[in-house]
This record gives sequence, C-alpha cells and structure tokens, in this order.
Amino acid sequence: MKAFDLTGKTVLVTGASSGLGRQTAVTASEYGARVVITGRDAKRLEETFASLKGEGHLQFTADLTVQADIDQLVASLPQLNGLVYSTGISDLTPARFITAEAIDKTFKVSFDAAVLLTAGLLAKKKLEKNHCSLVYISSISTRYPFVGGAMYISAKAALEAYARVLALELAPKGIRVNCVAPAFVRTPMLDDTAANYSQEAVNMIEARQILGLGDPEDVANSIIYYLADASKWVSATSLVLGGG
Ligand SMILES: NC(=O)c1ccc[n+]([C@@H]2O[C@H](COP(=O)([O-])OP(=O)(O)OC[C@H]3O[C@@H](n4cnc5c(N)ncnc54)[C@H](OP(=O)(O)O)[C@@H]3O)[C@@H](O)[C@H]2O)c1
Repeated sequence: MKAFDLTGKTVLVTGASSGLGRQTAVTASEYGARVVITGRDAKRLEETFASLKGEGHLQFTADLTVQADIDQLVASLPQLNGLVYSTGISDLTPARFITAEAIDKTFKVSFDAAVLLTAGLLAKKKLEKNHCSLVYISSISTRYPFVGGAMYISAKAALEAYARVLALELAPKGIRVNCVAPAFVRTPMLDDTAANYSQEAVNMIEARQILGLGDPEDVANSIIYYLADASKWVSATSLVLGGG
C-alpha cells in the first residue's frame, strides 16, 4: 500500500471539472495527494473541489487553448510532483469533411495545450526534480481506430509520440513521463458521443470490450500507479486500459 501512497505529493490535474480528470483528482486526494485542479467550467470545477479529501487543495479555471490562461495558471502553481493531463474533446469527422478549422479545434485541445502547458511548467521550473511523474491521457483508438476518428486519433497519436520524447529529455532530471490509453469509459464525453453522433456506434464499441465499458475509477487507479513511487522505474510507456 505504501508504494501507492501519494502523501506529500502535489499533483496538477487538468480537465478536472468532469469525467476522468474529476475522478483522478478525487482518487489522488484519497491516496493523500495535495491536488491542484483546473478546467473551464467554474461550477463543475467547484463540485470536484468539494469532493476532494484532505486539505490544502487549489483550483484555477483556465481555457488551455488560450496562452494567457496557461501562463497565468503556471504562475499560480506551487511546485509539482505530478501532472495528469485529462483535457480533451471528442470529434467524429469523416475524412472528406475535415477542414483546417476541424484540425485546429481538436489539436489545440488534445495536443497543443498539453505541449504548451508542459513547456510552461518546465520553463518556470514548476516540476520537482527526482520526484515527478507526468501522465497524459491518450486513447486505445491509436491502436484500434474507429471510422470518423481521424482528427481525435491523430491528435492522441501525436501526444503519445511527444510523451516518449519528453520521457527521454526529462529522465536525467528524474522526471517520468507516461500515457494511459483507455477504451470507452462511462463519462460525459461518452454521453456526448452517443447523443451527438450515434448510440448504435457506442453500442457496437461496447460489445467489442469484453469486460464492458470502463468506470472512471478504473482509469484513475492506473494513473495513481503512475503518480506513485510504485512506478519509479517506469517511463516512456503507454498503458492500454481496454476492457479486454
Ligand atoms: N471517456 C472515454 O471513454 C475516454 C476514452 C479514452 C480516452 N479519453 C480521454 O480522456 C480525457 C478525459 O475525457 P473525459 O471522458 O473525462 O471527458 P469529459 O468528461 O468531456 O471532460 C473533458 C475535460 O476537458 C476539459 N476541457 C475541454 N476543453 C478545454 C479547454 N479548452 N480548456 C480547458 N479545459 C478543457 C473540460 O473542461 P470544462 O468541461 O470545464 O470545459 C473537461 O474537464 C480526454 O482526453 C479523452 O480524450 C476518454
């Protein structure tokens, strides 16, 4: 149990106003972490904040596609032992309908913002040397693609490639970098996909996951492993959470 303890660690969780980010923040606080949460929606961020266990947590609203918001967030942060990047949006656009705007929309949130936030954390020396773990949420769809997912999946593939380079660059500082790549999990993003695109598509994907849909806790628990000293010899990996 001790190897998974997060007592004394401060962890920034993005996308914490909803879904996987919210659950990861709550679970990390249950394992003893001091958590700094960020998202755009102040009301839902406050709901997450109210669910955190323990004391000393912080919350900051920020739109991570806006450089000034990233700069302000980074300036407000304490020294960190961990980052969980859970910010993302879903997108289903068949290849022939992809526009420059569609590329921008997905990449800005799922890739650019992750890279620019990390650059800001490094430039402002917010990451504790020797005791820091960065975790980016990718997607199993980088291995098992779905029709219409070109932009979503390409942005996640870029994020995973970036994370592997980052792992190389930061290893000498004792900072580890990993991804988790979940299959479909019950979150508002999944509800959006069902409502805006097709419940049938969601049913089909669910049928492919032999252990069924995941729960946010299933992803959060794996992220705890990466944040904790239990994984101190693990970097440059991407853990598939595929429901079998
Ligand atoms: N759910 C799944 O089945 C699944 C599977 C594989 C991978 N993933 C990945 O897991 C991550 C979390 O997904 P989720 O299901 O938890 O989604 P979600 O419930 O829709 O949450 C997405 C989060 O991203 C934040 N966000 C979006 N755009 C933002 C922006 N411009 N600036 C700041 N924050 C922004 C949202 O903040 P506000 O709501 O406050 O705007 C929200 O907190 C995503 O990267 C997703 O691609 C999810």
